[in-house]
Amino acid sequence: MVLTSHEKLPMELKYIQYEHGLEGRYLPAIRALISKDLSEPYSIYVYRYFLYQWGHLCFMALDPKDSSLVGVIVCKLEPHASHSPPTLRGYIAMLAVSAPYRGHGIATALVKRAIDAMAQRSADEIVLETEETNIPAMRLYERLGFLRSKKLHRYYLNGNSAYRLVLLLKHYNLDFATDLAVDSNGSEL
Ligand SMILES: CC(C)(COP(=O)(O)OP(=O)(O)OC[C@H]1O[C@@H](n2cnc3c(N)ncnc32)[C@H](O)[C@@H]1OP(=O)(O)O)[C@@H](O)C(=O)NCCC(=O)NCCS
Repeated sequence: MVLTSHEKLPMELKYIQYEHGLEGRYLPAIRALISKDLSEPYSIYVYRYFLYQWGHLCFMALDPKDSSLVGVIVCKLEPHASHSPPTLRGYIAMLAVSAPYRGHGIATALVKRAIDAMAQRSADEIVLETEETNIPAMRLYERLGFLRSKKLHRYYLNGNSAYRLVLLLKHYNLDFATDLAVDSNGSEL
């Protein structure tokens, strides 16, 4: 399928939540889709770590024709003890959309589902890292209200730097607010 960006998809995709019964059918496809664009491929254990504990925070976009995987988001939600009082921190670990389907709002729909699921479970904030050169991901997250909280220099094995992005779902004390201070180049103040 080849469509120009923003052209409407010819069909409505199905969005479903991952569950353990779907592992045999979808885990290989999830790994294949995510590892295509990774500079550092994850082992199967990384996928299982997330999906066994937080399968309810994984959402998939499926082609309704054959239920094949078109997009996926994988997250976790845990207490974060370095804040006082401890906060409940959501983390978006993986997000990918199959190349021919990009630019049609599929990742946006997946991220919104993940945000809703974590907000419903009382998350205080949601964080993630993305390569500074990943313009589509930066635009997508910033459009959804994520802020740049830190620049992580040479964060990836390929030497690229990353931004940590944060979406605040609740208000924090001032200590945390200073964590968010960045100058216009994204460096920490
Ligand atoms: C990042 C990614 C998930 C976006 O998926 P998607 O379904 O195309 O995203 P959406 O259609 O919801 O939105 C993408 C936004 O980026 C924009 N965009 C897409 N390609 C772009 C490009 N090459 N340059 C600039 N902007 C671009 C879109 O126009 C849209 O922004 P807009 O709605 O404000 O115009 C997808 O590109 C992908 O899978 N990339 C590889 C894996 C990856 O980088 N994952 C993120 C790791 S944090």
